[in-house]
Amino acid sequence: MTRPLRAAVFASGGGTNLQALLDHATDDAAWRVGLVLSNRPDAGALVRAEDAGVPRAVVAPEPGVDVEARMLAALHEHDIDFVLLAGYLRLVPAGVVTRYRGRVVNIHPALLPSFGGKGMYGMNVHRAVLDAGVRVTGPTVHLADEVYDRGRILAQWPVPVRPGDTAEAVAARVLEVEHWLYPRVVDHLVPFWREGRELEPIDLAGDAFRPVGSSSSESQNPNDR
Ligand code: GRF
Repeated sequence: MTRPLRAAVFASGGGTNLQALLDHATDDAAWRVGLVLSNRPDAGALVRAEDAGVPRAVVAPEPGVDVEARMLAALHEHDIDFVLLAGYLRLVPAGVVTRYRGRVVNIHPALLPSFGGKGMYGMNVHRAVLDAGVRVTGPTVHLADEVYDRGRILAQWPVPVRPGDTAEAVAARVLEVEHWLYPRVVDHLVPFWREGRELEPIDLAGDAFRPVGSSSSESQNPNDR
């Protein structure tokens, strides 16, 4: 029996995505959350970690603190195989990205490469989505590197923007899908990391994206022609 791989989850906020990952990575999973790290001592995510009995680390960017060195030490101490960013509002230090190249993953609450980059976090993202008038949004899971929201896209899932939506309504609709999507993408990635293989794309959608009301028997889907 091979040992489960160990994830560090980096979170700055309330940590509902962390909770989804904790709830998913139980006995049957091929991975575990082995560390929760935050830049904020008051992050709700740390309370969730404590409740789950998962080790916590706070690495706050204060004068005289070598954030990169402290992070690398914590990751080493807890024998961490990969890093999951879940509402972590700072750039991951270059040395951590280098040490875990291809094993740092982020979830972003919009369909990258739109609505990403510096300053695009929290409600800013959903307000920008409404301002742009797009009719579809949704989470993106991607590899993280030294630049915000730039790395290779691993998975996305569409979420409708409805007439009259507020940013809060869109955020809640997207967040629910994030909780479903993120753990499943990690399940997909773990065997590639374990075996040191090149990542292959995940096909979560199958043939799910059909126009509403269509079915293969009616043959109204343009993809069927
Ligand atoms: C999520 O919307 C995630 O996509 C973004 O930050 C938010 C974190 O929410 N990166 P939570 O702390 O997991 O509830």
